Amino acid sequence: MIDIAVLASGTGTNLAALLDLPEVREHICLVVSDRADAGALDLARRAGIPARVVQFGDFPDRRSFSLAVADAVEQAGAKGVVLAGFMRILSPEFCDRFPGRILNIHPSLLPRFPGARAVEAALEAGVEVTGVTVHFVDEQVDHGPVIRQEEVPVFPDDDADTLHQRIKTVEHRIYPEVVAQFVSGRLRLDGDRVVTA
Ligand code: GAR
Repeated sequence: MIDIAVLASGTGTNLAALLDLPEVREHICLVVSDRADAGALDLARRAGIPARVVQFGDFPDRRSFSLAVADAVEQAGAKGVVLAGFMRILSPEFCDRFPGRILNIHPSLLPRFPGARAVEAALEAGVEVTGVTVHFVDEQVDHGPVIRQEEVPVFPDDDADTLHQRIKTVEHRIYPEVVAQFVSGRLRLDGDRVVTA
């Protein structure tokens, strides 16, 4: 069994979906946010899970910020890290501390549309299909071995809100499933290969 820290910057609807699944919830030992006003922190507190704020502006550079987050994760006893809308780039040193044990969810079919504006970028590109990617994190942004992808249709009258909502419905279904596999040891990375038991 692998205890995890969940890192989130925003409203935390993915964290809420993770908390809804008991076999995942019991393994979340910390929630970290880079924003003191993140809804995810309230969700954690209400669930009785320790919540920490680590603010980017309190550190001289990305490396020291990332190491402070890594310290918080380790102090909580977490062996894995689940990014759930964490909108800060973590330095390579962070990845080195949790090799093959960081998961991310992203609102596009990677490698298309990485970055913070994935939903808007899909609309601007005029694609008819976008989607969701869950992947192990490597040292590049929104990059690393893909665990699961699912398509989401784009409708002609979509704006960023309607499309993101449709994407999140899929995220909330698949992320808890994948994280449940991970915490139970049934999902791991072997080199660049995703292994499921
Ligand atoms: C989710 O759509 C997630 O895929 C995205 O942020 C949103 C967080 O929503 N992550 C990224 O864009 C990572 N590059 P939430 O706060 O409601 O869970």
